[in-house]
Amino acid sequence: MGFLRHVPGARRTDPPQPAPVRKGVGVLGLHEGRTLLVGLDRCRYAYAVAGCDLDPDKIEASRKERPDLFYTADYGELLARPEVEIVAIYTPDHLHGRHVVAAFEAGKDVLCTKPLVNSMEDARRVLEAGKRTGKRLLVGQSTRFFEPFLRQRAACERGEIGAIELLDAHYIHRMDWFYRKSPWAVTETDWVFLGLSHPVDLARWYLGPIAEVHAYSYRSQLGQSVGLKGNDVYIVNLKAADGRIGRVMGHYGLEELPSARNCIELVLYGSKGTSQAQYHDMRYRHTAPDGSEVTEDPLYALRHYYFNSEVHGMHYGEFANYADAFARALLERRDLAPGLEEGLETFCVMEAVRRSAAAGHPTQLQPLLQEAGLA
Ligand SMILES: NC(=O)c1ccc[n+]([C@@H]2O[C@H](COP(=O)([O-])OP(=O)(O)OC[C@H]3O[C@@H](n4cnc5c(N)ncnc54)[C@H](O)[C@@H]3O)[C@@H](O)[C@H]2O)c1
Repeated sequence: MGFLRHVPGARRTDPPQPAPVRKGVGVLGLHEGRTLLVGLDRCRYAYAVAGCDLDPDKIEASRKERPDLFYTADYGELLARPEVEIVAIYTPDHLHGRHVVAAFEAGKDVLCTKPLVNSMEDARRVLEAGKRTGKRLLVGQSTRFFEPFLRQRAACERGEIGAIELLDAHYIHRMDWFYRKSPWAVTETDWVFLGLSHPVDLARWYLGPIAEVHAYSYRSQLGQSVGLKGNDVYIVNLKAADGRIGRVMGHYGLEELPSARNCIELVLYGSKGTSQAQYHDMRYRHTAPDGSEVTEDPLYALRHYYFNSEVHGMHYGEFANYADAFARALLERRDLAPGLEEGLETFCVMEAVRRSAAAGHPTQLQPLLQEAGLA
């Protein structure tokens, strides 16, 4: 198999050259997790060793693509394998807390999909276990690792956008298909965690610690028709600790208009320029120094790497990018964001959004950070 490695501007079709020392990854939850299991082929510093799911059909589907790996329905068996050095968790949102704690206690480092947790109780348990065991964690915030968002970040770090003065992010997507495949989404979580975790994380990434949020939320007709426990329409204003401001929006029952609004978008309005990153059309638009608008569109060039040669598809490239970056950071003993504490801080922002929308007034972050044990 040949892939284009993620090196912006570089077109390489050779399989990646494995690094001399690599980290073995065991994946828990083989629906979205199967994407990583396959995507690990693209990595230099990480490789797939095992998969685990309660559902035998999920194991069989993974076995067809990666017959060479160890499979089990018993998480304890996965944790007992010494070649599993990183446990990658893709179980339903409300199970992440207990699965992360078990992995830490088995001496494993953890890659956990978003949202890291969806309750204050789990936030405290995960923080305590992380401190007690000293194991490392990366939250798999896939959007940060998608091509246009990587380009936007690099431009920002080169100073091309200047000081960010306003941020606008959204994740909007019709989710009837998701309720059919994952009924837990109706009763065991809330879209503030399941969906809004993408734009909230983007806001936290660029604005730094958030001090206050003011949110409104609503339950769409689709949400009502499936008996949704929480809400699935959100709009949030956020104020950072340093006074900068942003806006985040989510709607999970709408009819989409994808050419006008991609499902995930981040617009940064800076003192020197403006830029927009999109998922899933892979466009990155930005202002040139003379003010003209530039569009970079690597969708066709990078579709093999990001989407398994389709024009759109699952998350192979982003998942491979974060798994490789995490394994490399572990090997080189470097920090990589978003780690455990930043992930829990972002959970607190989402929980503040939920509480603000329920109460109908702005919510300060400081008391929630204290509740979680972070301050
Ligand atoms: N962009 C992204 O990063 C992205 C995209 C989609 C989903 N997700 C997240 O990934 C997670 C999983 O989502 P999904 O769509 O794959 O859900 P899903 O319901 O399709 O799959 C979850 C899988 O976990 C398995 N499972 C549950 N408990 C288990 C246990 N104790 N041991 C072994 N296997 C167990 C189930 O059998 C199922 O196959 C969620 O937290 C979701 O928010 C992230």
